Amino acid sequence: MSQRPPARASSLAAAITDAHILVATGAGGVGKTTSAAALGLAAAQQGRRALVLTIDPARRLAQAMGLEGLADEPTRVPLPAGHLAAGGELWAMMLDMQTTFDRLIHRHAGSAEEAEAITANRIYRQLSSTLSGTQEYMAMERLHELHEQGAFDLLVIDTPPTRSALDFLDAPRRMTSFLEGRLLKLLLKPGVAAGRGIGKVVGAGATAFMRVAGRVTGMELLQDLADFFRDFEGMYDGFKQRAEEVLVLLRDPRSRFVVVTSAEPPPLREARFFLERLEQEGLHAAGVVVNRISPEVPRDPSDAGLTRAVRSLQEAAGVDPDAPNDLDQQPSDELAMSGALQLLSDVRNLAARQRRDVSAGLFGVEVPALVEVPLLDGDVHDLDGLASIAATLSTGRTR
Ligand SMILES: Nc1ncnc2c1ncn2[C@@H]1O[C@H](COP(=O)(O)OP(=O)(O)O)[C@@H](O)[C@H]1O
Ligand SMILES: [Mg+2]
Repeated sequence: MSQRPPARASSLAAAITDAHILVATGAGGVGKTTSAAALGLAAAQQGRRALVLTIDPARRLAQAMGLEGLADEPTRVPLPAGHLAAGGELWAMMLDMQTTFDRLIHRHAGSAEEAEAITANRIYRQLSSTLSGTQEYMAMERLHELHEQGAFDLLVIDTPPTRSALDFLDAPRRMTSFLEGRLLKLLLKPGVAAGRGIGKVVGAGATAFMRVAGRVTGMELLQDLADFFRDFEGMYDGFKQRAEEVLVLLRDPRSRFVVVTSAEPPPLREARFFLERLEQEGLHAAGVVVNRISPEVPRDPSDAGLTRAVRSLQEAAGVDPDAPNDLDQQPSDELAMSGALQLLSDVRNLAARQRRDVSAGLFGVEVPALVEVPLLDGDVHDLDGLASIAATLSTGRTR
């Protein structure tokens, strides 16, 4: 990986400069939320108006971005002047699925009363928060809405901590099939066809809802269900069209996906599947971010970075690096020193293994850019940490 031509890093840099939409995706916990925020900051630093739609920022990151409490509308992130080129602005918002879904109902419903009836419906409340793929779909909906409003140069979207990044791509289709009533059929199976008594009409799927609904009786639940699908009927077309539009927007050449991974084989496998899937779907990858990778330890003993690393290991091991390295040296110092060197060699081995795993994991798949983001000290919860990652993402080099 280290011999890759420098041009390979540039498609991510180009995306920061000219994409309209960036989607940060990848396995759980790899650094999607952090990368999304850093991508937004990188664009703002170049003078763009960037909005980061975040989903689950850690509390301190949210604080650093001025997102205390639920901020379902764009909020300006306070940045020190030195962080920005002229015209650059960083905005952030927290995606709230329920609010987005409710807003969508209001948009597509025939009347305000109809919208009220649906959003108050128990089945709706249950479905809108638990249906698999809803969160992903709502994220895209909000993205589409903000894109149409056109107030920002770049929208960076974080993706939910789903089981698989692929769920994100499947969400519009899943939403469409839900709207086509497949779910209703599932819920009512097999009682309807058999024409049995009302108790039997409620299938296994509905029983689960009843359990959640608590004291609601089967009859009440059925009534809610019937109301829900009756009220929803007029909205199918609007929803379906919207789901199509979301897909069209994601296929636009100015919408690009940033696949985030760690250097571990399971997230790499997921990154690989995702890249393959993007290609099949005609979607555009901006690049792969290998996050939290161990920095490469130079082989050359005169390398300044290596000298620093050895020094800090010596300090950590309690060895005086300036002590004359003569026979008077305490045996305990020697022990500490050999411990430090062992550690250095472990770090070097780890760094080499990670790079082998990355090469093997992505072998044969089209990777437009590959940027390594080093493991930073501690979590990334302030603007300095984000700025350091932003610099790496936009130059392809570690600062
Ligand atoms: N390069 C990095 N160095 C150190 N910590 C990191 C780095 N990138 C992310 N983190 C930390 O890892 C944790 C998970 O990152 P996050 O972006 O929330 O992942 P995801 O959104 O993919 O679940 C956070 O606590 C974050 O601060
Ligand atoms: Mg996250």
